[in-house]
Amino acid sequence: MSLLSVENLQIRFRTGDGLVHAVNDVSFDMAEGQKLALVGESGSGKSQIALAIMGLLARNAEVAGKVRFDGRDLLSLPASQLNALRAAQIALIFQDPMSSLNPYMTIERQLGEVVELHEGASRAEARKRALEVMEAVRIPDARNRLRAYPHEFSGGMRQRIVIAMALICRPRLILADEPTTALDVTVQAQIMALLDEIQRDLGTAVLLITHDLGVVAGFCDDTMVLYGGRVMEAAPTPAIFDAPGHPYTRGLLRAVPRITDGNVTLSAIPGSPPNQTAAPRACPFAPRCVDAIPACHEMLPDFREGRACIRPVEELT
Ligand SMILES: Nc1ncnc2c1ncn2[C@@H]1O[C@H](COP(=O)(O)OP(=O)(O)OP(=O)(O)O)[C@@H](O)[C@H]1O
Ligand SMILES: [Mg+2]
Repeated sequence: MSLLSVENLQIRFRTGDGLVHAVNDVSFDMAEGQKLALVGESGSGKSQIALAIMGLLARNAEVAGKVRFDGRDLLSLPASQLNALRAAQIALIFQDPMSSLNPYMTIERQLGEVVELHEGASRAEARKRALEVMEAVRIPDARNRLRAYPHEFSGGMRQRIVIAMALICRPRLILADEPTTALDVTVQAQIMALLDEIQRDLGTAVLLITHDLGVVAGFCDDTMVLYGGRVMEAAPTPAIFDAPGHPYTRGLLRAVPRITDGNVTLSAIPGSPPNQTAAPRACPFAPRCVDAIPACHEMLPDFREGRACIRPVEELT
């Protein structure tokens, strides 16, 4: 059985301008210990998928489909059970560490409170666990720094603390939403190496959300590419890089900065993201696709053999 199974997930938002079709018919499975990347441009629906799994969608959201974790349907679970489950077994790491940390509480209290609350641990036990995870995420001088407040740490160290907070209940699934985007490149690499090591030690499954294919390459077993709230392509990560099967994936790969002879080349995909106020009736990427033919503007491609595109791979530019 899969650890996480998302089936035909549909997320719409009621707005003054009508319904926004943010996530359309998204399905995927994650096995215990699997590292899956969810990539796509801004607005493609990545965060909403994570929020739906956590039961944290905004109040104007309408959700349909199934999200099963360990066999239980999260979308229909009573709030109390969902709370218990998401604290103990699923952890969410956000992009901005300051939004996950309370500026007025010491690190020890923030970390400790989680285990006291969810596992009924004693103060002393909570302190011990806080120290363990601080050491696991390599905070130097962890024992003394437990008494410090978030602002006394650098951005990279704060993100380590957020990861520590996610780990303290030993979750089976971590949803990491752009965990390194706010950090500079060197620190980004350190945080990804840390996540990788933790993942290997604990066997935690990780859903990594990012718009940066460079981050995906070294970390994830499998990659799912989203556009306009729809899965364009899903494949093992090496295949995504070596033999991308969708024009959008190909475009994204061309947009990864490459350094050749000391020159950084970056190509963006021309055009702008789709208007999502109408239910999709054609390929959402067609207006920006270099390979589009008239049929692409008229029908919604089925997702078949890992890709949603009516053009044969051999014919793509
Ligand atoms: N409460 C809301 N009401 C209306 N629309 C919303 C709401 N929340 C999200 N959306 C829309 O849903 C779509 C998907 O948003 P989402 O946050 O998942 O994007 P994303 O892929 O995470 O982008 P980014 O890379 O910028 O974080 C966007 O078009 C967004 O404007
Ligand atoms: Mg997002």
